[in-house]
Amino acid sequence: MAKIIQAQALRDIAAAIVKAGGSSDTEAKTVADNLVMANLSGHDSHGVGMIPRYIDAVLEGGLVPNTSVKAMLDIGTMLTLDAQRGYGQVVAEQAMQMGIARAKQHGSCIMTLAHAHHIGRIGHWAEMAVAEGLVSIHFVNVLSRPVVAPWGGGDGRFGTNPCCIGVPVAGREPFILDFATSRVAQGKMRVAHNEGKQVEPGLLINEHGVPTTDPGVVVVPQSNGLFGALMTFGEHKGYGMAVACELLGGALTGSGTWHSAGDFKRSVYNGMLTILIDPAKLGTQLAYEQEALAFVDWLKQGPAAPGVDAVKIAGEPERKARAEREKSGISLDDTTWGEIVEAGRKVGAAVAA
Ligand SMILES: NC(=O)c1ccc[n+]([C@@H]2O[C@H](COP(=O)([O-])OP(=O)(O)OC[C@H]3O[C@@H](n4cnc5c(N)ncnc54)[C@H](O)[C@@H]3O)[C@@H](O)[C@H]2O)c1
Repeated sequence: MAKIIQAQALRDIAAAIVKAGGSSDTEAKTVADNLVMANLSGHDSHGVGMIPRYIDAVLEGGLVPNTSVKAMLDIGTMLTLDAQRGYGQVVAEQAMQMGIARAKQHGSCIMTLAHAHHIGRIGHWAEMAVAEGLVSIHFVNVLSRPVVAPWGGGDGRFGTNPCCIGVPVAGREPFILDFATSRVAQGKMRVAHNEGKQVEPGLLINEHGVPTTDPGVVVVPQSNGLFGALMTFGEHKGYGMAVACELLGGALTGSGTWHSAGDFKRSVYNGMLTILIDPAKLGTQLAYEQEALAFVDWLKQGPAAPGVDAVKIAGEPERKARAEREKSGISLDDTTWGEIVEAGRKVGAAVAA
């Protein structure tokens, strides 16, 4: 049985728990709004289901409430930020605001963000820049557990390392390509496992390196105490993108790469390289606007394949989900809801079960 909750009620519950964990009212609201936006966008894996993990991370000391970014270098076109293990929803918002302001002034900004606690759905950050007319490119690594196997490898060696490209399209909705470099996000395996479902073949290997459809292999330790692993998308090419995210999001930012066995700490850290470009300053604005519009329209005028309603561009599924879920409410499975109630209990925020 799933529980259906309207977005605003869920924001209030999420904010109350985060606040009880030691955050200011403003921080609790920012975190809650961001997580519920992920649910609304159809990405439940990055929504309020993360709260139990965040609260555990706060209680363990790996996530530090009420923390801001610290500028290590700021020369306008280059911005180097240390998030100091603050809430990702807060520090990434601060970082994007700073990067956007500098890109609008100088035409571009290369911004690095190190040591952020989980920054959630990366598309959220691209959407912020695109709303200001900027192109926004993101390479992110994840320090949590080595849950994804290299192409041709038999165990997990790195995280689900997301990559995101946001491009404004004048006269149309923007292109927001936002994906984990694993075939699927780890959180989706948690959701499937909580719901007792098997997943399609080709996503996972078990703790012995053998393909499996059981999402539990990456959620709970297996018989030998080890985990299985997710596979990368696009075979060797997706694997290459995952390594690029680790090198750019983890090494170049100074945030750190993964190179040790997993542990059971609840913190999740992201490093992010962001490249912001202002097309208005590049000298190609007119051609860019005309060509982007013409291309997107050309794509969408093509015939749909059998069984498909229409050709879409990236970002459309999230916008459609938002429109639907704003009306119908957000569905949470019993396990996720129970974990949220329990997280509230741990910090003294009573949530009606
Ligand atoms: N912070 C972290 O540590 C972390 C780690 C991994 C993933 N994530 C986030 O997890 C989320 C989910 O990632 P995912 O890989 O499961 O995403 P996904 O597979 O659901 O979507 C990937 C992209 O494909 C687009 N898309 C989907 N269907 C389409 C269609 N029919 N036509 C055209 N485009 C289409 C979507 O708009 C999206 O941009 C992302 O928001 C990602 O940023 C975050």
